[in-house]
Amino acid sequence: MQAPTPAALDAFWMPFTANRKFKRDPRFVTGAQGMHYTMSDGSQVLDGIAGLWCVNAGHRHPAISAALKQQIDTLDYASNFQLGHPAAFTLAERLADWAPADLNRVFFTNSGSESVDTALKIALAWHRARGDAGRYRLIGRARAYHGVGFGGISVAGIAKHRNAFGPLLNGVDHLPHTHDPKRNAFSRGEPLHGVEHADALEAICAVHDPATIAAVIVEPIAGSTGVLPPPVGYLTRLREICDRHGILLIFDEVITGFGRLGARFAADRFGVVPDLMATAKGLTNGAIPMGAVFVREAIHAGFMQGSEAGVEFAHGYTYSGHPLACAAALATLQVHQEEDLAGQCAAIAPYFEDVLHALRGEPAVADVRNLGLLGAVELSPFPGRPGVRAQAVERRCLEQGLLVRALGETIAVSPPLVVSRDQLAGLAETLRAALRHVDAAGPDAASP
Ligand SMILES: Cc1ncc(COP(=O)(O)O)c(C=O)c1O
Repeated sequence: MQAPTPAALDAFWMPFTANRKFKRDPRFVTGAQGMHYTMSDGSQVLDGIAGLWCVNAGHRHPAISAALKQQIDTLDYASNFQLGHPAAFTLAERLADWAPADLNRVFFTNSGSESVDTALKIALAWHRARGDAGRYRLIGRARAYHGVGFGGISVAGIAKHRNAFGPLLNGVDHLPHTHDPKRNAFSRGEPLHGVEHADALEAICAVHDPATIAAVIVEPIAGSTGVLPPPVGYLTRLREICDRHGILLIFDEVITGFGRLGARFAADRFGVVPDLMATAKGLTNGAIPMGAVFVREAIHAGFMQGSEAGVEFAHGYTYSGHPLACAAALATLQVHQEEDLAGQCAAIAPYFEDVLHALRGEPAVADVRNLGLLGAVELSPFPGRPGVRAQAVERRCLEQGLLVRALGETIAVSPPLVVSRDQLAGLAETLRAALRHVDAAGPDAASP
């Protein structure tokens, strides 16, 4: 495919991108296979972040591609409003089997943002349906990312994603984040210190009256704000406090779902069952947009009351359970089963941990964090130049054939779960060389 013309570059308002900077020096992906992207100059780049934390089975998995091709020639679109197509039901059943405990009812969306907003709405509407409309508060957490819907940015904890958009949802409060580098730097897996951060929920209850709180939402591991694994015992304690006060617990598993932590879901990995689970990304291996909210049976049952003629939950998307997305998700689940992607992840995770932690001592490395195949190397910024070092490292890695992601001062790494030991070793060496190169070149060379 031809490179975009200047007019085409101007026309596309790119998401979450420094548009003008990108368009001065654009980089294009033209193909992908397995662990690699092909760039427009023909070079190969190792995908160290699985697309955007989504391509868990590797790019263009033949079974997923084949399922999509077959589906488009059979049924392109059918609505699931007062109608239905079989694949959506089959997929829901398979996902229910796949999910922990009784998270057996599945509501389809098209993205992580929609899954989050859907989960928040289910929580609010469930309390109302059982006659407890006084529970309207939603509790999020500092340094959380829950997508870009108004619900998601309200409960998330990133000021620059919120401050352009006014007062957002009413009745939202936030737990503190759990990042504690003084006590936990260079932790392998779950950090030892910080379970007490969960007790902040009791403090919030004391301020607001727990009888007004509908739900708490957390990412089991905060991803986009720098990969922050939960302290040992933290999620269990959150669950206990929610149970004590009749508050629903929502896990945002948009990144952690579908094998990334070496288990099907973070809920399995940590042994904590939420009431609702928001997912997307790995559900279709990134091949086509889809999200799903998993709902516990008792919550779903709360809606299935009253007249059978009425719509029980006034919510849904034109593309909820789109036939193509269902085909891709069914094939993805099959791949998970046949190739045991979560098991592959669990098996290679200790090696991933070792190669990442071996970067300790390289220039400006302030912390290394990891769990499953989610990892992060946090850097000390160049004085007075926030984010510049991490961006320069990201750029240098790309020049050297490796895609990683700069998130503030942190370099995130989350390769497809099919990554090999050699590829992980190569990834770490490219990152090491980039850290040294950027440090030697200094902040002026690194500036955009
Ligand atoms: C934890 C979490 N929730 C929600 C989202 C939003 O997903 P989407 O971009 O598909 O709307 C993301 C995206 O990275 C995420 O990491």
